[in-house]
Amino acid sequence: MQQDQQEPVVYLNGEYLPASRAGISVFDQGFLLGDGVFDVVSAWKGSIFKLRQHVNRFFDSLQAAHLHTSLNREQWGEAIIETVRRNGLDDASIRFIITRGVPEQVVADPRVHQPTEVIWAAPYIFLGDEQQRSQGIRLMVSQLRGFASDTLDPRYKCLSRMHFQLAKVEASAAGYDDLVWLNKDGFVAEGPASNLFMIRDGILYTPAVDILHGITRQTFLELAERAGVPVELRQLTVYDLCTADEVFTTSTAGGALPVREISGRTLRGPAPGPITRELDRLYWASREAGEHGTPIHS
Ligand SMILES: Cc1ncc(COP(=O)(O)O)c(C=O)c1O
Repeated sequence: MQQDQQEPVVYLNGEYLPASRAGISVFDQGFLLGDGVFDVVSAWKGSIFKLRQHVNRFFDSLQAAHLHTSLNREQWGEAIIETVRRNGLDDASIRFIITRGVPEQVVADPRVHQPTEVIWAAPYIFLGDEQQRSQGIRLMVSQLRGFASDTLDPRYKCLSRMHFQLAKVEASAAGYDDLVWLNKDGFVAEGPASNLFMIRDGILYTPAVDILHGITRQTFLELAERAGVPVELRQLTVYDLCTADEVFTTSTAGGALPVREISGRTLRGPAPGPITRELDRLYWASREAGEHGTPIHS
């Protein structure tokens, strides 16, 4: 846990600084344009989960966004571990970010840039509270559509998140806990911070396209295989969700979050249902056992 009284330590461009001194320029393109990419990895009981997979996804975002970095994959991994260590955390959510930095001229060629590189770690963040985890959340189908691969491919984990914020405002104003949006063809895509799963007649379904490839989503697919639950990646509609036996979201912020209602329709089964409960149990057992884990204190 974070030590009392200690100011958080932030990694900024090669230095570990107290948060109050970790400032970036108001001319930074990340601030001005939301021009940058990031990733979020978590630590539980002193072990960082699937660090390599998160760093690899980050490097894919960088490559696709034409962003440079001064560190290689191993160095990013080391800096992430060191940031968690310096913050005295065992259970942590760690965000690492690269922006296009400060351009030399106001209107600059985006290919030429000096990136701003940041890592910060906070105590572990759960997407849902205790009650939502034990009784399920109310999920709204947003009026906003998700991006498609011919606009801003959802596989970019990028800083431009106004779209997400507007959808969250819409859902909160309507009294919902979270939301899911559809893709441009009207099929279920994902939420602003999570992927979506449903279960019907013992089969686990999740959308395959127009989504961020969530590391937790992939982990739940692996756990389903281990548990002998058949999986199908396919297009889903709102009708499919409303008539499912179980629905849940997945994210680095807490594993599975059960859903009890979709835009006014209470689901038939309990939330969490038996398969959601079992997969989430396997997820946390795997994390506690340090599987796919990188120890913070080695
Ligand atoms: C749009 C979106 N989808 C899905 C997820 C879940 O991904 P992960 O399981 O890697 O946390 C996130 C995480 O922040 C997200 O932003």
